Amino acid sequence: MKIFVTGATGFVGRYITRELSQAGEEVLIVSRSLRKAKESVPWAQIVEGDPRKPGKWQDEAAKCEAAINLAGSSIFSVWTKAAREEILQSRILSTRNLVDGLNREGNCKTLLSASAIGYYGSRLDDEELSEDARPGAEFMSEVCVKWEAEAKRGEQAGMRVSQCRFGIVLGKDGGALETMLPAFRRMLGSSLGSGRQWMSWIHLRDLFSIFTFLLNNDSISGPINCVSPNPARNREFAEALSKALGRPIVLPGVPAFVLRTLLGEFSNVLVMGQRVVPTKLSQNGFSFQFPTLATALADLIG
Ligand SMILES: NC(=O)c1ccc[n+]([C@@H]2O[C@H](COP(=O)([O-])OP(=O)(O)OC[C@H]3O[C@@H](n4cnc5c(N)ncnc54)[C@H](OP(=O)(O)O)[C@@H]3O)[C@@H](O)[C@H]2O)c1
Repeated sequence: MKIFVTGATGFVGRYITRELSQAGEEVLIVSRSLRKAKESVPWAQIVEGDPRKPGKWQDEAAKCEAAINLAGSSIFSVWTKAAREEILQSRILSTRNLVDGLNREGNCKTLLSASAIGYYGSRLDDEELSEDARPGAEFMSEVCVKWEAEAKRGEQAGMRVSQCRFGIVLGKDGGALETMLPAFRRMLGSSLGSGRQWMSWIHLRDLFSIFTFLLNNDSISGPINCVSPNPARNREFAEALSKALGRPIVLPGVPAFVLRTLLGEFSNVLVMGQRVVPTKLSQNGFSFQFPTLATALADLIG
């Protein structure tokens, strides 16, 4: 199958495109930097282009039978007005232009478009959130709602569209774990805020398996929670990480007000959470290789 990928040079994209390519799929990517793409995804065919703008890259997208949409600027920043605009527009415009390109020749049958569990907003209660739970009222919820709506436009041209709501993706060489490991290795890591907030996570290997499951399963569409079946509270997560590293937690938790002073509204992503469960994947018989945090961390750190 010929698969078109945006955001392929990032943490998730590098892994997914390499695995797809090793599985014999033909992978074509768009990147804003040809040089960066050649270095980070040498296994893929590359077309240079900025997915936020219409361009020749859309003609290449039109030739593909499936597409995976991962492009978007990092949310790990202080959310100034300019940063918010970039977070929102990089996703909306890239998705809109991708769908327009895919629509041109009617070759594309399946679009898997990234979204995030930020869709559900901050939930301090213990409610388990399946795909039909309502969206939150915060900035990231608004981003996800608009991002998913752009992807849904693909349905008008007959594509099967899945909006993949990623939990915190745990993998090597990037993502949240790489950010946390240095502090925990030096015994400077701890829980954040109350430590009771839920962290819904997914091992990168399982995320790849979800993509292949969705590519090959014509009967599944719409929003999909891409999370393990066992979300953990932030304190449990910190303890599991410290155990996997063999380094005790010696510091008290970081108070929420300190994070808010340093990071502003982005700190909500860290101190609030949501308990998201993979209802649709479970109903459709998807099997997780790393269902628990202990198995995931043992694989990634052990
Ligand atoms: N990692 C997670 O835990 C997680 C959790 C929930 C949701 N997600 C979502 O999943 C997607 C992939 O995540 P990731 O961790 O792999 O992200 P990443 O490492 O930050 O990579 C994102 C890619 O998007 C492109 N990009 C960056 N800024 C852009 C901009 N301003 N305009 C257009 N394209 C831009 C870049 O590709 P080029 O420079 O090659 O163009 C980059 O390689 C993201 O949309 C992210 O929001 C990730």
